[in-house]
Amino acid sequence: MARVIQIFDTTLRDGEQSPGVNLCPEEKVEIARHLEKLKVDVIEAGFPITSPGDLQAVKMVVENVKVPVIAALARARQVDIDTARQALEGCKNPRIHTFIATSDIHLKYKLCKTREEVLDIAGSAVKYAKNFVEDVQFSAEDASRSDLDFLCRVIERAIQAGATVINVPDTVGYQIPSQFGELIRKIKEKVPATDRVTLSVHCHNDLGLALANSLRAVENGADQVECTVNGIGERAGNTAVEELVMTLSTRPDYYGNITTRIDQRQIYRCSRLVSKLTGMVVQPNKSIVGRNAFAHESGIHQDGVLKEKSTYEIMKPESIGLMNRAIVLGKHSGRHAFRVKLKEMGFDPPEEEVEKLFLRVKELLDKKSIVSEQEMEVIIEEELYRVPEYFKLCYFQIFTGNKFRPTATVGIERQGELLEEAACGEGPVDAIYRTIDRITGLHFKLLDYSIKAVTGGKDALGEVNIRLTDNGTIISGRGVSTDILEASAKAYINAVNKIVKKRGGHYGDDRS
Ligand code: KIV
Ligand code: ZN
Repeated sequence: MARVIQIFDTTLRDGEQSPGVNLCPEEKVEIARHLEKLKVDVIEAGFPITSPGDLQAVKMVVENVKVPVIAALARARQVDIDTARQALEGCKNPRIHTFIATSDIHLKYKLCKTREEVLDIAGSAVKYAKNFVEDVQFSAEDASRSDLDFLCRVIERAIQAGATVINVPDTVGYQIPSQFGELIRKIKEKVPATDRVTLSVHCHNDLGLALANSLRAVENGADQVECTVNGIGERAGNTAVEELVMTLSTRPDYYGNITTRIDQRQIYRCSRLVSKLTGMVVQPNKSIVGRNAFAHESGIHQDGVLKEKSTYEIMKPESIGLMNRAIVLGKHSGRHAFRVKLKEMGFDPPEEEVEKLFLRVKELLDKKSIVSEQEMEVIIEEELYRVPEYFKLCYFQIFTGNKFRPTATVGIERQGELLEEAACGEGPVDAIYRTIDRITGLHFKLLDYSIKAVTGGKDALGEVNIRLTDNGTIISGRGVSTDILEASAKAYINAVNKIVKKRGGHYGDDRS
């Protein structure tokens, strides 16, 4: 019989704690909907006590996502648990996830508490949470650096108090796979009550060992693994869901009947969505979902793959929903072909959106005769996940050259009014950004700017990703166009619109 590992997805909580990531409630709902399609067992939707936005986001996920368990995080304090309970109101399958640190380092320097105090707090928190929900998960933060006997006492106490899931985090990503496997085995041996609950692990990737540690834990009896899409999360991130799932399914010879409920064909789409909404670009050589994960560069490899794919491919791109289809839509393709294509690519937008997308793709076809699937994908994503356009680019013009100081003129629409300005800059992009700042009256620090071609070829679409800071909050922006300066302007305006949205739609400028 198959042994099914529960996938607890924490993209919306630990993933959102990635430096620079800032998701609004609507974006969280969009990701949660896709996680539901991916068929994760649990979605950790947020940490409601941390901000009204997070509380709101968990509530909205509860309203919109019905099948998976929805978890809300809470420190081992009544006020946190009350807020988590409030966020989960009306949820069909609610879980309160409460935690306290158990390592001596955390007890001494962070909590300033004795072991006995922590033991009592853990038990009381679980007991309190049990008043509101049946399903209570307890995490011993920094478990992997805790004294084993004390850790086992805390786990025992949490189970006595009614915990249904015990999570063992490697909070600082310090463990070595054989050690971590051993830790799980010993916990099971020393606390027989763990047989009555789900034993879970949560690994961080500081040493690049999160996946290996999670797999070792599974081999030693863990039945739930906490993961994030693309492995995002605090510092170096968490175990990547796509890596865990594909390792188990690609190596049945080793893992035997260990499996998950994940619909693998949704992996690629989820990865793209999370990257798009978090602004965390996936590195090209990232396993499973990186741009190069299924690309073969060397002649010998290409030759081998053409003769027989299994020479150099251990997984099929189609198995993660990456359809390697050649193109697609030419100038004369109609709406029907377009709709079919959208479906094939895993998009299912409402009918009114289909028409808008069709016109966008046609617009691109006026500039180039054939649009590739990857190009279509970025355009669709740009349209579907658009933030309200408080500011909209109408036109730009640029004078530049190696002997001139670059000068930009930009026209932007704001509530039907055309605003125009001009400014010089160090380079053409700087000139455009300074001009946009003049128009909006808002000033942000540009942290990162990156540009890449979506496909090969001189007429390829360019994709620009930027990150800005607004009083310490980092906001990302993305823009695509066949013209890289236009893509740059769009990315900047996209980020500015996100900031205005965050400010509740107030675009009163910073000049006063
Ligand atoms: O890394 C960690 O310990 C956590 C816990 C809250 C589970 O994220
Ligand atoms: Zn964590």
